[in-house]
Amino acid sequence: MVLRSFRFVDLETPVEHFHTWLTPVPHFFVRNHMHEPVELDAHEWRLSIGGEVKNPITLSLSDLSKFDTHSVVNTLECAGNGRGFYRPQVPGVQWGKGAVGTARFSGPRMRDVLERAGAKSSGKHVMFRGLDEVPGKVPPFIRSIPIEKALDDDTLIATHMNGSPLTKHHGFPARALAPGWVGAASCKWLAEIKLLESEFAGNFMNPGYRFPNHPVKPGESVKPEDMHPLTALNVKSVISGPGDGASLKLGKVAVYGVAWAGEANIAKVEISTDGGTSWNPAKLGHDQAHYAWRLWSYDWKPEQSGEYILMSRATDTHGRSQPAAAEWNPSGYLYNAIDQVKIDVA
Ligand code: MTE
Repeated sequence: MVLRSFRFVDLETPVEHFHTWLTPVPHFFVRNHMHEPVELDAHEWRLSIGGEVKNPITLSLSDLSKFDTHSVVNTLECAGNGRGFYRPQVPGVQWGKGAVGTARFSGPRMRDVLERAGAKSSGKHVMFRGLDEVPGKVPPFIRSIPIEKALDDDTLIATHMNGSPLTKHHGFPARALAPGWVGAASCKWLAEIKLLESEFAGNFMNPGYRFPNHPVKPGESVKPEDMHPLTALNVKSVISGPGDGASLKLGKVAVYGVAWAGEANIAKVEISTDGGTSWNPAKLGHDQAHYAWRLWSYDWKPEQSGEYILMSRATDTHGRSQPAAAEWNPSGYLYNAIDQVKIDVA
């Protein structure tokens, strides 16, 4: 893993690991805004559900396990994935391509838990609070999602990842899972769920995790009312191999990678081996699920030695395609330019 920050652990997955549909947990990126909770005792842990509900409740892990379990294979991507490629540079963790991964998350549906507490119609937003150790005067990591997303069939209170209990890095003993949305919507070490009449007002909702309503020029200031909260992910693909800068012998080359599209599905992935002049379809992998990435591959046989720029471009079922350049924005979110690697064929 690439250590992007040590004070608050931020780990990036090297792209060469993206050759399996499910990302093994030890290779799944980690994004923390503050310290992970020091001690978390599964027996003592409780989840409270309150706010705009008829019967506020508190659940233990054993209570949660009595709800029906549902599984969702979800590609989780940090909103800041790719921030390091924006020019001019944007402050924040300089993620490359690997703040993304795919896992099978399991646990009760959030909807079932909210129903148990008797959600009132006045509850329009669902707030999550985690058990992060908040350093000094930093505002705590509290965010909310709209009730419609919280009630979706696939939104979970996940307790398991790839069939095993969540590890501490990924939110043990329970985390929210808002599939297809930016990772920040999926609060780890969940301790409190609160139904609110309006969006939670706090740093990580505003000004954090907001995107300009209209394209802005670098350096241009954007008024808060001209920004909206981030929700679903963009269409995007990444070339996992060959690696950028690889030297290969003349002969067959397997080009491969992953592509995802948030709440949409991948319609096609195209590959260019001539720097974007011509494009050919890649073969999509067999494994698929609504919110999960598709593996793709492309068999290529360069005819002569030399330097090549390989590119991948994904298109989704909503008709979106990766742009040549991502839309610059002040916080460097949702980077999704056509991916490229430069290789040398000897
Ligand atoms: N939840 C809490 N409590 N604290 C956090 O810092 N980071 C969020 C989200 N949930 C975070 C959190 C962000 S920005 C992302 S991208 C995902 O967790 C990352 O999940 P992972 O570390 O399991 O990959």
